[in-house]
Amino acid sequence: MPLEDAKVPVLDRGFIFGDGVYEVVPVYSNVPFRLDEHLARLERSLAAVGIRNPYTREQWRGFIAGLVARQSFEDQAVYFQVTRGVAKRDHAFPKNAQPTIFMMSNPLVAPAPAQVEAGAAAISARDNRWLRCDIKSISLIGNVLLRQLSAEADAVETLLFRDGKLTEASASNVFVVKRGVIQSPPKTELILPGITYDVVVELARANALPLEFREISEAEVRAADEIWVTSSSKEVLAVVRLDGAPVADGRPGPVFRRMYRLYQDFKHKVMRAGRRESLPA
Ligand code: PDD
Repeated sequence: MPLEDAKVPVLDRGFIFGDGVYEVVPVYSNVPFRLDEHLARLERSLAAVGIRNPYTREQWRGFIAGLVARQSFEDQAVYFQVTRGVAKRDHAFPKNAQPTIFMMSNPLVAPAPAQVEAGAAAISARDNRWLRCDIKSISLIGNVLLRQLSAEADAVETLLFRDGKLTEASASNVFVVKRGVIQSPPKTELILPGITYDVVVELARANALPLEFREISEAEVRAADEIWVTSSSKEVLAVVRLDGAPVADGRPGPVFRRMYRLYQDFKHKVMRAGRRESLPA
């Protein structure tokens, strides 16, 4: 139905409590990318918050295919969320609520070539979100406030530090490069396990680029040769200014350029072709 005709009751717990989880699946040339991985992450988020998964994977695949087929554009960002449903306001779980499901698709717009070429600005902030950032919760007020800080500074992202260690950014994962080694924080409850993060890791491994998962201190981030942010919509984007200071020489670095190329090739040959890729682990 038209977006403006879609309605949710005001007592929906998504509206009242932000009590729900979501996914965003990138679709290239009408082919959803890594749909099984996104559905697995949805299942983990639902299980973590105790919301019943209303559909089987087969049903989810069917609804997503139907939504994708109805759009006039081929590259899409399919958003879907599941809330705990409609019930009298009470923090404790309602006994008989049915989960509310909402899905929409918007055009997926990759960063403009000029921005990829020039790199982007970011700022930093203390990661003051809760301790279950691995759950893709619709309660995004923490992320929203942190993202607003960079929006007001004309920057694309806010890099987050918890106890002096890099976690992720307000809506993306973060990689740094030092002396040719690509580094990222390990997947813990403090970061969202990004599907794009996995792709970058797999491309690094398949191409024998040195890679390490480790705690990265704030000082190390500021002294990095390169900083990248990754997400389904940003793909891989170089951060060339952090809090107003240049990152190394202030230009996207050689390892970024290599990874960006690998990612674009992968997008062209695998994602768009809808192939189940077989990258060596
Ligand atoms: N954001 N970390 C956070 C906090 C995120 O919100 C996202 C994605 C990511 C990257 O995940 P992925 O590679 O699976 O897109 C990391 C989505 C796109 C959003 O909320 O719109």
